Order: sequence, then structure tokens, then C-alpha cells
Amino acid sequence: MLLGTCYYPEHWPETQWEDDARRMAELGLTYVRVGEFAWSRIEPEPGVFTWEWLDRALDVLHAQGLRVVMGTPTATPPKWLIDQHPDILAVDENNQPRRFGSRRHYCFSSTTYRAETQRIVTAMLERYGQHPAIAVWQTDNEYGCHNTILSFSACARKRFQSWLEKRYGTVDALNTAWGNVFWSMEYRSFAEIDPPMQAVTETNPSHRLDFRRFSSDMVVEYNRIHVDIIRRYSPGRDIHHNYMGCFTEFDHYPVGSDLDIATWDSYPLGFLDQSRYSLETKAYYLRTGHPDFAGFHHDLYRRVGNGRMWVQEQQPGPVNWAGHNPVPKPGMVRLWTWEGFAHGAEAMNYFRWRQAPFAQEQMHAGLDLPDATPAPVQAEVRQVAEEIARLKAEGLPETTQADVALVFDYHAQWVFEAQPQGRNFSYFDTVLEYYTALRELGVSVDIVAPQDSINGYRAVVMAAQAHVPDTLVAELAQTKTPVFIGPRSGSKTISLCTPAELAPGPLQQLLPLRVIQVESLPDQIREPLLAGDKVSGTVVRWRERVETTLQPLLRFENGDGALFEHGQARYLAACVDTDTLKQQMKGFLTNAGVAVQPLPAGLRVRRLGDWLFAFNYSQDTVRFAPSGQCLLGKEEIPPAELSVWRVPSSV
Ligand code: GAL
Repeated sequence: MLLGTCYYPEHWPETQWEDDARRMAELGLTYVRVGEFAWSRIEPEPGVFTWEWLDRALDVLHAQGLRVVMGTPTATPPKWLIDQHPDILAVDENNQPRRFGSRRHYCFSSTTYRAETQRIVTAMLERYGQHPAIAVWQTDNEYGCHNTILSFSACARKRFQSWLEKRYGTVDALNTAWGNVFWSMEYRSFAEIDPPMQAVTETNPSHRLDFRRFSSDMVVEYNRIHVDIIRRYSPGRDIHHNYMGCFTEFDHYPVGSDLDIATWDSYPLGFLDQSRYSLETKAYYLRTGHPDFAGFHHDLYRRVGNGRMWVQEQQPGPVNWAGHNPVPKPGMVRLWTWEGFAHGAEAMNYFRWRQAPFAQEQMHAGLDLPDATPAPVQAEVRQVAEEIARLKAEGLPETTQADVALVFDYHAQWVFEAQPQGRNFSYFDTVLEYYTALRELGVSVDIVAPQDSINGYRAVVMAAQAHVPDTLVAELAQTKTPVFIGPRSGSKTISLCTPAELAPGPLQQLLPLRVIQVESLPDQIREPLLAGDKVSGTVVRWRERVETTLQPLLRFENGDGALFEHGQARYLAACVDTDTLKQQMKGFLTNAGVAVQPLPAGLRVRRLGDWLFAFNYSQDTVRFAPSGQCLLGKEEIPPAELSVWRVPSSV
């Protein structure tokens, strides 16, 4: 449970560095991240390196006992480099290069940029690989930020063709897998295949899915360039990448397996503004953020980091980039910090130390005001630092395996993006709804990848798992672990075609049913779910017609079955509203022997070892009194406050 911040010494006069470092340490910070955008100051002219300023900055931070997280500077290739090699630029779907003038303007496939990356990262590592101040390395910054994963460049086209050849072996196999006989889209060689772009109408969804998979693999390859060099010159030090919130454009699991820690950048208010929650929900949580936004990502990135997770950037005040940028309610920065630790974060770094008085992010708050005086939020950071110091005496606990595993799959997101069949269907939002239902029942959740073992879980939930790997089906069948299966699961093959046995494809090994028809519904349509002749819930967005000999537990209005159970498996043939989902999860978990504890609105709890945290995101004081020893806070939890309890392990 360590605190830190993001610092840009190149933004400030050198005379200020010492005071900054001293005040960081005094505030209780341990980590300071530097370097990730500094290329033009590190190498102002081709081949001319000016490391001396960075040497001095590291010395100043080190002298205060701060541990440095050093970022490779590749998210911002400088102007001279772009002018020398315009083929570094990413190319958009309309075949236009994205231009210099902000950041992330490179193409992951660019052979030139891969070589330049190798050059600058090697230079940085030769200089600092053994530097005593550096504790952790960061690769690049936020892969994919500003819509930069897909690039339709000449390099991407070539690499895509080789990628396809490797995947399919022969072009006939590709034609069959994609169904290219349709509309005479057949290819005679891999060299004929373009990225899916500038077509008259929709391109083949299998083509688009494979282009996404390919683009994701380019990120994995690109990240490895950094990792290989860092491991060679700085062995033994941890490497992380800072991922984003609500971001699915590359598969984070394979990137995560090459790294030691997954970190992510948490901006609860910015993301609420950009989310698809109702206006009412957005108004209610305006200054707190949605109670599941941070929790979901902490749990997701704990899996991406194979158990190790940090928050690399934590919102400390209003941001600059959302449609509206409110100020966090007093207390929320402290609450978000503790919430990260409750979900297993090893460190929480605030973005940024000081608000910049210039350029794009001058409206983005920091821990310091632009005039180098403390922003009010520093009081909250100081309070957390003191609380951690005090609680350390109790022995800080570690996260343990939760009872419930929720499957999250980047490929399922791409499948339903390529073929939504209903404008309002989003895989990400659907999984988040399931997460909310579970968390409102007081359940701690682990997020797992579809390829993971589910060993040790008492229940598994999959929301809309487009393609279900055989390994998962086999393990579920063999272990008889209770599983709740949401609609659209098993509805596609690996190459985005309809399975021969129809949906839910291989899941038919768990439940004897076939989906014979599906329909999508506009937002304003809400239809009843019936238990006997009583209304027992609400169908929204998506509904399926199922053929089976099973007797349904719930029916649609027309008498067709909506919820089925067979052995340990339940299948829900519709999307339902959040209250219905919560009720369904409650029944399922209770049956599975998982303890549930429905919570007051806006309250969330998380178990960390034998500690139980309670966080109040609501606008009212709530009472929460588990049996145990109260370590922090109290039973009456005011808005934007938390309490922590040591509880017996059975609670
Ligand atoms: C992140 C990014 C930072 C900064 C921040 C502003 O996306 O990594 O460099 O731009 O957002 O909120």
C-alpha cells in the first residue's frame, strides 16, 4: 500500500526540483513516475543525447528516498523523427496518415518505428538500467489511447497478410473460415488481401475480427521490443504498462503475461461522463463516479497482471478531457485510494504532481496548483498516508481468491462490435452489468480470462461469451462448478460464424438447448419476465427463442422459456434490467452456496484477506456493521467515506 505521483521535471525549472521532491516525500509518497513523454528533451537532434538533465532529476528524487518509475518515451516520437521517417505515422481507415501535433501518432506495425524504438529504449537502458533510483520500468504510455490501435498503413497491410498466412496456412482455408464465397469475396492469394477499409458497405465481419486480432498482436510484439531490452539491461526490476479504463481494443492478457505488473489509469469522473449510464445515474454519481467503475477495473487488471496490480494514474481533481469535468466530492480521492488497495493494488499514483500552466492539459488538476502551492486534495493524500502508517501495525492483508469468477474476454467484445445485431448491445457494458449485480449483493469477484482454469471458484458467471473455448466447457463439465450463462454465449465459432449445432455451441454439453431465433430491441422496449403468472423481471435489448425439453424457470410473455437450468448450469435467454439481473444472481449464488448480502444503494464492500472494506458512493449515510473489529471509520458511514473491519473468515 504505497503512494506516488507522476512528475515531469522537464516541465519545471531545475531550481524547483528539490523542493518538489522534498514535498513529495513529506506528503508520504514513495513512487514518482518520470520520463514517458520526454523524447524531445532526451534526444533534441538525431543522435544527440542530453541525458544530463535527467541524471540530475533522478539524483534529486533519489536523494529524497523516492523510488522512480521510469517510462520509455515512445508514446511521443519527436518532430524531427517523423519528418525523417513519415512511414512511422499511423494511417486511418480513409487512408489518411495521422499527423504530428499531439501524441501516439505511430503505427505499431511500422518497421522503421520498431527500429527507432529499439534504438531509443536501448539508449535509455544503457544509461539507466542499473540506476539505483529506478525501481520499476514502464513501457510506453497507454497503448491505444486516442483510438490508435488500428492502423491501415502499407506496413500493416503486409504484416496482416503474413499474419493471415500463418493463421490459415492456405488461402482456401481462409476463404472457407471467413465464408468468402458470399458476395464473391474469394481471394486467390494472401497478397490480395487488404485491411478492411474503404469498402462500399459492411466488410466481412470475420475479416474485421481477424484484423482486430492482428492489430492486437502488433501491440504484443511492439511491447516485447521494450521488455526484451529492459530485461537485458535492468534484470530483476519490475516492468509494467499503464492500461486504460473501458478500453478493449487490444487483448490485454498476452501483453500482461510479458510484464510483471498491470497498472491502470483511473479517472472515475471522466469515465462516468463518457459512459452509457442514464442521465439520472450520471447526475447521482456526478462527483463520486459510478461505484463499480474503479472496482471492475481493479479486478480486471489484477488478472491482467497475473495477481499484481497498481493504479498508475489516479484522478486527483477535475480532468480536462471529458464532456464535463466536475470536481470530486471531498473525500473521494481518499476513498478511491483505499478502494484500490482493497482490491489488491500495491501502489496508487496520482496524476499528476503539479497542474501544468501550459498546453493541452492545463485544465487538468494535480496535487499541486500551477504556482507550486498545494491543492486542497493534498490533505486527503496525507490522511491516507497516515492511515496506512497506522494500520500497518495490524499487519496489512493480501488479496485472496474470491468465491465468484466473472469471465471477461476481449475477443467477445470484438465479435459483438463486428456484428452487434442491435445498436444498443455492448459486450463490455453487459459484463459490467453482471459485475454490478454481483457487487450489489456484497460479493467479491475475480475476473478471469476464458482460457483460465476455474479451479477453486464456487461459481462462474459468463455474460455474453461469444466463443467459449473447449477447455472451459470441459472443465465446467468435469468439476460441475455452478455456472450462469448469459445470452449470446457460445453463439459464434472462433472465426465468427454460426456454430453447426447452433448457439450456445459447445455449451450444449452442459445444457440440452438450442437457440433457434434471436431479436434485438430498442431501448424504450421493456417486456415482462414471468415466474408462473407473476411478473418477475424485465427484458431489455435482447431476447432469444430456445428449443429444449427442459422446463423453464422463467418465461417470456408469450410462454416461451427464458431461464433454464440443467445440472449445475443456468442459461438466461435475454438481457434483463439491473434489478432483474441482481435477483437472478442472488438465486444462482444462493443455490451455489455463495453467501450474499444485498447492500444499500451505493455501498460496496470488498474483502481483502481478513479485512472487509465498505465504501459509500451514495448521497446518504448508510449503516454497515459486520461482526468484527473496526479498524477504520465506523458503522455509520457518511457519503464519500469508508470503514474497514477485521472479520472472521467465514463472514
Ligand atoms: C492519461 C494519460 C496521461 C494524461 C492523463 C490525463 O490518459 O496517460 O498522460 O494525459 O490521461 O487525464
